[in-house]
Amino acid sequence: MTIKLTAQQVSMRFKDRVLFHIPDLSIGPNDAIYLRGDNGVGKTTLLKILSGLLKPTTGRVNAPNDNIIQRLFPRSGRRDVVYLHQSPYLFDGTVYENVAYGIRFQKMSAQDKRAKVITALRRVGLETLADEHISVLSGGEKQRVAMARAWILTPSILLMDEPSASLDQESIDRLVTLAKDLLQKGSSIVVTSHQKNALTDLCRKQWWIKDSTLIESPLLQIITEEKQENPYAKSNAN
Ligand SMILES: Nc1ncnc2c1ncn2[C@@H]1O[C@H](COP(=O)(O)OP(=O)(O)O)[C@@H](O)[C@H]1O
Ligand SMILES: [Mg+2]
Repeated sequence: MTIKLTAQQVSMRFKDRVLFHIPDLSIGPNDAIYLRGDNGVGKTTLLKILSGLLKPTTGRVNAPNDNIIQRLFPRSGRRDVVYLHQSPYLFDGTVYENVAYGIRFQKMSAQDKRAKVITALRRVGLETLADEHISVLSGGEKQRVAMARAWILTPSILLMDEPSASLDQESIDRLVTLAKDLLQKGSSIVVTSHQKNALTDLCRKQWWIKDSTLIESPLLQIITEEKQENPYAKSNAN
C-alpha cells in the first residue's frame, strides 16, 4: 500500500528551546528521502513525530490511514508508518517470535503467518537462527530482525533512524534488499545517516534540518556537496 503523509506547521520545543519549526512537509507516495543534519538538530525527534510516537508542540501530521486510536491517543504510533530505531527494541523471546509479533493480529491462518515469518527471516539471512533466543545475536543481526519485523508489515512509510551505524556489510546489504523491495511495492523510505552509504544511495531526495527548519532538495545537490567536502568522494557518489 502506498500513501502520502503531510504535515503542517510542525514544531518541537523542549522547555524554552525551539528545536525546529517546519511549515510544510510531505512524504510519498513512493519517496526515498535522505534526512541529514548535524547531531542534535532533531532528526530522531522528527521521525518519531512522523511515526506518531511523539506529539509535536504545534502542528499536525496527517496520514490517511490514521484510525480512531491514533486520533484519541496521539502517541500510540501510526498505522502504516513504521519507525526503525537505531538500537531496536526486541523482546525477550526467539528470533521467530520477535518477527511474528508484527503480524500477530493479522487475519490469516497460522500456517500462512509462519510462511510469512520464514520468508522474512530468509530475506535477512537469519532463517537458521529462527529458534535462537534474541540475546545470542550480534548488533547487526538484531537490526536485521527489526528490519524483518518492519518489512513483514509492508508499511507505507518506513523511517530508518541511523540504520547503518556500526553495521557489518552483510547486514547493510540485507537492509538495502528489503528497503528496495518496499520501494518496488510503492512504499516510501526516509533514512537518516551521518555518512553516505548503500541505503542513502537509494534516496532520490534529501531533507536537511538546518537553522531549525527543514530544507528539501533533489539528490543532485547531495553529490555536489560531497564533492566539495571530499574531492575523493566522486567515485562512490553515483
Ligand atoms: N524528551 C526530551 N526532552 C528534552 N530534550 C530533548 C528530548 N528529546 C530530545 N531532546 C533534545 O533535542 C535535541 C535533538 O535530539 P534528536 O532528535 O535526538 O537529534 P538528532 O537525532 O538529530 O541527533 C537534542 O539536543 C536532545 O537532547
Ligand atoms: Mg538521532
